[in-house]
Amino acid sequence: MGFEIVLSARAAPLEAMLRQLLDARTLSGEIARPERLMAAMRHGVLNGGKRLRPFLVMESAALFSADGEAALRVAAALECVHCYSLIHDDLPAMDDDDLRRGQPTVHKAFDDATAILAGDALLTLAFDILADEATMLPAERRAALVLALARAAGAGGMVGGQTLDLEAERSRPDEAGIIRLQAMKTGALIRFACEAGAIIGGAAQEDRERLAEFGSAIGLAFQLADDLLDLTADAHQMGKATGKDAAAGKATLVALHGAGWARSQLNGLVGQAHALLEPYGEQAVLLKEAAKFVANRNS
Ligand code: IPE
Ligand code: IPE
Ligand code: MG
Ligand code: MG
Ligand code: MG
Repeated sequence: MGFEIVLSARAAPLEAMLRQLLDARTLSGEIARPERLMAAMRHGVLNGGKRLRPFLVMESAALFSADGEAALRVAAALECVHCYSLIHDDLPAMDDDDLRRGQPTVHKAFDDATAILAGDALLTLAFDILADEATMLPAERRAALVLALARAAGAGGMVGGQTLDLEAERSRPDEAGIIRLQAMKTGALIRFACEAGAIIGGAAQEDRERLAEFGSAIGLAFQLADDLLDLTADAHQMGKATGKDAAAGKATLVALHGAGWARSQLNGLVGQAHALLEPYGEQAVLLKEAAKFVANRNS
């Protein structure tokens, strides 16, 4: 419970930033922001997510004494990509879900075409935010963030992982195959969240790699917990439909090895994640809590 309070406290400035980034005002170079599109984008973003990825960006950045305002904008950019991925993941052509974060999915509240376009615009907005001089970082750090997020989100990252996830309903991958697809569909954005903190703070390459590795460990734990919760939790608790993975024949480690195995794996991953943070001592205490939360969460 304790960590959930920390998460929601950290989410407050992020909500304000997201609200500002999704308002009707046009930016230089834009022509007009259609109200229905903006409303759909707001529906898909300002709807009470846990904001875990933004927390990881901000807390990783704090390890390297990075500028808090810049970290907040990078966190908002990543949340835009995450929310776009959820909007598209819920579409009838993908997981076909009606409920997200306790509310109707974007395609239910609007329509399929608007949901596709809202996702497209959120993805684009993320790179706008990173490149914008208002993200007050040296140009080479902004470029490094753009590159790292593009690699994490694209064909070799999240989108590639979503592709493998859909194929896996038929191709029945083995354990290594499932771990790889999950490292892509879920792990890549969480890994970016942690690595981004090091980039924002101008940390040494060694720290950047260590944070990325920490992100990979908790990213795998995150999807493992999601798959366990799909089996054990109810829709009210999760704010989204559950029991769907087994029904769809989704390839998950829980389906392959069972819930008991998954729980012991989670413990191992938390241990691995904690070990990676040892060099940062007391400063990393909240990131360590985040790792535990990811594995033991119940929503
Ligand atoms: C859900 O992510 C999608 C997965 C990668 C499993 P979250 O559980 O972080 O969703 P929100 O942002 O809190 O709604
Ligand atoms: C989705 O995984 C990961 C994304 C890239 C959005 P899931 O399909 O398991 O996520 P939920 O359970 O719908 O949130
Ligand atoms: Mg899915
Ligand atoms: Mg889904
Ligand atoms: Mg799921």
